[in-house]
Amino acid sequence: MTHTIRWNLHGITKINNREIKEAARFLRDGMTVAFPTETVYGLGADATSKEAVAKIFEAKGRPADNPLIAHVATKKQLEALVDNLPESAEKLIDAFSPGPITFVLPSNGTCAENVTAGLSTVAIRIPDHPVAIQLLKEVDIPIAAPSANLSGKPSPTTADHVWMDLNEKINGLIDGGTTGVGLESTVIDCTGEIPIILRPGGITMSQIEEVVGKVLVDPALANKSEKPKSPGMMYTHYAPEAPLWLIAGSVDKLQEIIGYQQQSGKRVGVMASDETANALQADQVVKLGSSENLTQVAINLYPGLRSFKQATIDLILCETFSEKGIGQAIMNRLEKAATKYVK
Ligand code: TXA
Ligand code: MG
Repeated sequence: MTHTIRWNLHGITKINNREIKEAARFLRDGMTVAFPTETVYGLGADATSKEAVAKIFEAKGRPADNPLIAHVATKKQLEALVDNLPESAEKLIDAFSPGPITFVLPSNGTCAENVTAGLSTVAIRIPDHPVAIQLLKEVDIPIAAPSANLSGKPSPTTADHVWMDLNEKINGLIDGGTTGVGLESTVIDCTGEIPIILRPGGITMSQIEEVVGKVLVDPALANKSEKPKSPGMMYTHYAPEAPLWLIAGSVDKLQEIIGYQQQSGKRVGVMASDETANALQADQVVKLGSSENLTQVAINLYPGLRSFKQATIDLILCETFSEKGIGQAIMNRLEKAATKYVK
């Protein structure tokens, strides 16, 4: 068990404050510190130290073959980790960094091998959050940071979420308030001729196309009608405490399924747009925001998934959303979290 120090920087953004300096010292000493970014909270450690990075995997219970993102404050620091910077990456960095986008690039071996899971590539991003940027500038080494949740759980958008998952498992936590985007960064592989989106996120496909022209999407993401090769994968990503069913279709269909499940003795929770939620009755109803405002739905998604407790809810139903813009990332996370998709 580890004592977890919690620093409160909620609303404080002054450079060089005592808490940032102390957190940076923790990181330089090989310890783990969770910190806010504009997407979700990350759990950081010195990306150049195998021992420090091992503590991240241990605290999260993360499988060792899932590589981490190295976080840096500047383009220059990013360049120090790569073999060469492909033209597409250069353009995208200039357009969107700092911001919610991660670049998969040829590694020059500076990051420890457990950051890259032994791959020849390294994922790097420059977060757009005052606390993260100040911390990264102060520490002046690349910081490996996956989302600061227990492996398999929804990513944390508040310091309390991190605390619930990782208290006494990590050395420090900087509370910088609620994160902005609410979903993780877009991960884009820039090592080939044409960039490939590996994970949809904060920067949308059409924003990327505007900068580099043609973009591909990882076929595993595009081919949704195909069953995932490993069904276990469905249970281990972004999963709430109760099983989640994704329901495509009308409000009436959703209400019918709620009624049917309640009759069989289940306490049913629902997550839906404001419009749909207002028309439904269930044991717990979580409004995610207007279906016309997917930016808000993205912000409310993970806190929504975390709000259903096993003690009170047996089954969660969630409606589907348009895949336009950030909707692509919303649907990607919901499909991964869901144990069943009723179309
Ligand atoms: O918004 C975010 O990206 C947050 C914040 C904390 O920055 N971080 C985050 O990290 O979501 P994580 O570990 O939960 O997700 C990293 C993703 C994983 O899907 C991982 O497989 C992929 O990036 N990844 C990392 N390195 C890679 C590489 N070299 N090649 C391909 N995918 C990689
Ligand atoms: Mg994660």
